[in-house]
Amino acid sequence: MFTFQDLTINKHILLAVSGGIAAYKSAELVRLLRKQGAEVRVVMTHSAMQFVSPLTFQALSGNPVHSELLDADAEHAMGHISLARWADALIIAPATANTLAKCSHGLADDLLSTLYLAATCPVYVAPAMNQAMWHKTVTQENIHKLKSHGVTVIGPEPGEQACGETGFGRMSEPAEICRCLLAEPGIRCLSGLKVLISAGPTREPLDPVRYLTNRSSGKMGYALANAALKAGAKVTLVSGPVALTAPDNVDLVNVETAAQMYTAVMSKAAEQDIYIGAAAVADYSPVMLEQQKIKKQSEQITLTLQKTRDILAEVAQLTPRPFTVGFAAETHDLEHYAQDKLARKNLDMIAANWVGRDIGGFDSEQNALQVFWKQGQKNLAMTTKNQLAEQLIRLIAERMELNKT
Ligand code: PMT
Repeated sequence: MFTFQDLTINKHILLAVSGGIAAYKSAELVRLLRKQGAEVRVVMTHSAMQFVSPLTFQALSGNPVHSELLDADAEHAMGHISLARWADALIIAPATANTLAKCSHGLADDLLSTLYLAATCPVYVAPAMNQAMWHKTVTQENIHKLKSHGVTVIGPEPGEQACGETGFGRMSEPAEICRCLLAEPGIRCLSGLKVLISAGPTREPLDPVRYLTNRSSGKMGYALANAALKAGAKVTLVSGPVALTAPDNVDLVNVETAAQMYTAVMSKAAEQDIYIGAAAVADYSPVMLEQQKIKKQSEQITLTLQKTRDILAEVAQLTPRPFTVGFAAETHDLEHYAQDKLARKNLDMIAANWVGRDIGGFDSEQNALQVFWKQGQKNLAMTTKNQLAEQLIRLIAERMELNKT
């Protein structure tokens, strides 16, 4: 059972209330957040104000409620931008189907949707709507899109609805939303730090139509980019070719070959606080790039490959250098090879995962990690790559903090 007892926080939470019957529950959310020490400011849409009076939120938050995008008094100082910058986290609760659709498509025709676009902090949404509206394909597409943009979706819950129907669509209880916001593992633990992450595979061309590559989808690296963003970091993502959408607010550098990844990473590494090498970089690339398509003639042909430069090892040699975290993808003797890479490449930490088996690793939604550093280790059990990434980010923050003392 969750208790709030061990949570001590000092956060700025921007609560955006859109127009649904669950708006009354958000009043309790303000009370709970304030009880935990958070400072809360509230933004309401015009339809939200039909359900609950702004005075209720003003009294509970101790701050004036904002509802107008074009408010002459507030906007002379770009009120929506300063509100967005003030927030450590933005929570839209309740988030109606209409609000979710607007946010997922980047519309900005009122204060709430404009704030969403202007926000650079972690964003949470707590959907609330009729169960049929929730299950509608377009709503699910919008939710999927928001998640892929790095938004955390809390709920909804199943149960009896205000309209008399039963199903998914009830807004999560305020205590649950509060728990997600405040107990969010890595929330702001990398605040103000610069994090460089490599993700995905590389492609090493043989001729104009063929290349050597591997099975990396980029999911692990992109999940880490999301988690680092949520933890308050400024994130640069150097990505090999993947079929994923990068989270908003990352500085994305697309590359194709190991040599391009080397150049992109090395040009930015020295100014970073953390480097995480989650990319599956080719260890070898073809010596010859044929200018024309290789013709099918002999029964056998021989490819000559040349070792690529080890990006991770070279980042770890920089002075000063970022806190350097490698990955190890192993099919056997996982601990032995991970410990070897940790020592040989002089890393601060290495996260080892099994590949080539039917669990986790390449391309799956889930993974498990055995993380090693010089004086210790921690096993992170099989879970979604998103959750695993948050756990790894928290571990990195803990180890960095301990290294300081
Ligand atoms: O992308 P997904 O489908 O989500 O899969 C995730 C993953 C399995 C790719 C990821 O979790 C992972 O293990 N990434 C590292 C894969 C890898 O190349 O492992 P390695 O043991 O061969 O390399 C060790 C480390 O050296 C890695 O941090 C790698 O980025 C780095 N390296 C390797 C070669 C090279 N030339 N330069 C490097 O920096």
